[in-house]
Amino acid sequence: MKNKFQKVRAEFLEKLKAVNDANGLRELELKYLSRKGEFSSLMHELKDLSLELKKELGGLANNIKQELETNFNEVRDRVNRLSAKNSLIDITVPGIEPPHGHLNPITIIQREMEDIFSSLGFTIFDGPELESDYFNFTALNMPLLHPARDMQDTFYVDSKNKDGALDLVMRTHTSPVQIRAMKKLGAPLKVVVPGRCFRNEATDARHEHTFYQFEGLIVGENINFANLKSLLELVGKKLFGPKTKLRMRPKFYPFVEPGNNGEYTCFLCEGKGCRVCKNTGWLEIVGGGLVHPEVLRAGGIDPEKYSGLAFGFGLTRLAMLKYGVTDVRLFNSGDLKFLEQF
Ligand code: DAH
Repeated sequence: MKNKFQKVRAEFLEKLKAVNDANGLRELELKYLSRKGEFSSLMHELKDLSLELKKELGGLANNIKQELETNFNEVRDRVNRLSAKNSLIDITVPGIEPPHGHLNPITIIQREMEDIFSSLGFTIFDGPELESDYFNFTALNMPLLHPARDMQDTFYVDSKNKDGALDLVMRTHTSPVQIRAMKKLGAPLKVVVPGRCFRNEATDARHEHTFYQFEGLIVGENINFANLKSLLELVGKKLFGPKTKLRMRPKFYPFVEPGNNGEYTCFLCEGKGCRVCKNTGWLEIVGGGLVHPEVLRAGGIDPEKYSGLAFGFGLTRLAMLKYGVTDVRLFNSGDLKFLEQF
């Protein structure tokens, strides 16, 4: 029995000398030192011996085991040090690209519009989403009980002004920022206002309670309808290509006079008629007109001296048309399958 232990010891130490890598070490560990290795099975055999022999050989076995482990650990440390020294880092190997987020298609369109209008000298202006009833309606020529308010039902916030009327609303359009811009900047001015708007809609594929608009306002001396037309024509060409045409049809908005509805030739069929333009050849995208004198006055600007033009693009609608999105609710859904396409 004693010899058996000595034999295993000699064998192990002999093999350990030849080992020079992690694989060799692992093999040796498995064969001799592991729970099912040769040394353990020898220890197992001890249990059949007499008490005296058990004592004697047990002591020897433990010493040998300790000796083998110490030797093994030394070699292992040496191998580890060597392999760390030899492993070169190749800095030319391409890195692993972390996953990116995606811009919402509305953000993409908004930035495109901001670029177009900044290049034309417009300032980008901002206003609050929770707006006063006064800015959202009254100052835009829609006094309390005016029927035009019906077209833009919204979410009223339960706060009363000093007359006891509800005074805070989720803004229904970006137009109230016209008043804020006039009050802050005075005339002359040239601003655009991208922003989120809210209406009390029964939602479906074409209606959503939360959507985006892109407002524009110029105030100056002798601003006229031709200025509005040429500006919207230019923007249409930048958005949809050089062949794009604009047509303007009269439409009532309380804050402009005259008011109009701007339509561009459909960029998909170039005016021939298709599914996107519902076979009309035209896409209705922007409302606009010359700023109503009452609105200029509400902004603190003298309508005898200055005139203005204003327009409002449906940014959400623009994104739907441009990317062929058939359900408006997808934009706010947070659905990655949708968002990752852009
Ligand atoms: N605020 C209008 C809407 O939400 C859009 C609009 C129309 C804006 C005419 C304007 C304008 O500035 O002149 O439907």
